[in-house]
Amino acid sequence: METETIVARLKSSGLFQTKGFIGGKWIDAYDGKTIEVNNPATGEVIASVACMGEKETQDAISSAYDAFGHWSKLTAVDRSSRLRKWYNLLIEHKEELGQLITLEQGKPLKEAIGEVLYGAGFIEFYAEEAKRIYGDIIPSPLPDRRLFVLKQPVGVVGAITPWNFPFALITRKVGPALACGCTVVVKPSELTPFTALAVAELALRSGIPPGVLNVVMGDAPKIGNYLLESRQVRKITFTGSIAVGKKLMASAAETVKKVSLELGGNAPFIIFDDADLEVALKASVASKFRNSGQTCVCTNRLLVQEGIYDKFITAFSNAVQNLKVGNGFSEGVSQGPLINEAAVQKVESLVQDAISKGAKVVVGGKRHDLGLTFYEPTVISDAKNEMLIARQEIFGPVAPVIRFKTEEEAIQIANDTDSGLAAYLFTNNIQRSWRVSEALEYGMVGVNEGIYSSEGAPFGGVKQSGLGREGSKYGLDEYLEIKCICMGNMG
Ligand code: SIN
Repeated sequence: METETIVARLKSSGLFQTKGFIGGKWIDAYDGKTIEVNNPATGEVIASVACMGEKETQDAISSAYDAFGHWSKLTAVDRSSRLRKWYNLLIEHKEELGQLITLEQGKPLKEAIGEVLYGAGFIEFYAEEAKRIYGDIIPSPLPDRRLFVLKQPVGVVGAITPWNFPFALITRKVGPALACGCTVVVKPSELTPFTALAVAELALRSGIPPGVLNVVMGDAPKIGNYLLESRQVRKITFTGSIAVGKKLMASAAETVKKVSLELGGNAPFIIFDDADLEVALKASVASKFRNSGQTCVCTNRLLVQEGIYDKFITAFSNAVQNLKVGNGFSEGVSQGPLINEAAVQKVESLVQDAISKGAKVVVGGKRHDLGLTFYEPTVISDAKNEMLIARQEIFGPVAPVIRFKTEEEAIQIANDTDSGLAAYLFTNNIQRSWRVSEALEYGMVGVNEGIYSSEGAPFGGVKQSGLGREGSKYGLDEYLEIKCICMGNMG
């Protein structure tokens, strides 16, 4: 399907927006600047969007700050019902939203619609949780004193979101923030702004008041810096690279903002000799090649025990060879393009480094004949944990497979990284599954399961993979302050 045809259809639904969203209004950049957004599957320009900076961010923060007074005072039931309406609209428009995701991000349409269902789930979940933000009564140390704990919204939130999940990583942040009574300024990736704008349009239609949700995009450093410097912004939530996360954390120190960070991963996928090979095989393909390998929780390294190593490599390579690469709008495609040329170059350099150090390419190993940013789904055997491909986050469709002998060795290799987001292990031994899960230094562990995420499960990492949790009941804590009220003279 042509980019133009899809855009025309989306325009007629009112979901194709190109301006920023501030105080409930669609706004051009104040200096009229725009930035082009490309379809990675065709290289075509989809459209230009407002390229905003400091002044627009300042106004978005002021709108959010003003709206906070009203939104935070609504009853939880009222906030909940508006979130519920928003959820219903997101589901009603899942096809269009999925098309926007495929258009600007490249993932196959079926996967994109899956992201909408997954992401909308956060809005539904937090519509429900909004009504369950309880406080505490604490036993008093003195007979005439009473102690109460209130949970209150932190205030204005700056949410900086990435391109790989242009929908779900907005709803996973905005859902709990709004449920708690916070207001938000979202800065989506300049590579994928259209989905964010459509999400904002549906928020407006669902009765979420002007100023509660704002979207500014364009000059990422300027917008990011302003969000960090502002004294009115009390919380920054970010998903992205470890390097950028560290910078944000340092800058947030200046105004002592609350910070939650979901940073990069280096997920090990451990298959023991006693695993069900069929289960492990299916899960490894799903976990490695989801979104063409461009998720923080994608398998980065497969660790396979020596007894089944060769058998696994053969079966895995056959499965990977059959993955269909192409434009996400084409039937049967499961592997879209990488997001940009820099992403392909990174993958190429990691593969070259592995080959130069003795690894072997079993399947793929080069750019796809389709050109642009398409890369062949790739399997690399004889990989070692010292290779760059096992130390850096690949973020592409390349699976290095490492051989190990013992459980201790597998745990040692798996934990030998500064990252600690997701890990997966495959075994039919119940004691081993528990023992290894406990030993893995990761925030999320899949046992005989390669896709972990859902709205009810806490998502987040340890070590340099981040701070805080998103999703689940724990995700609310990131947007709440604890206030203790001590009442005296109560005897
Ligand atoms: C991510 O890549 O950060 C999100 C993946 C997910 O939510 O499963």
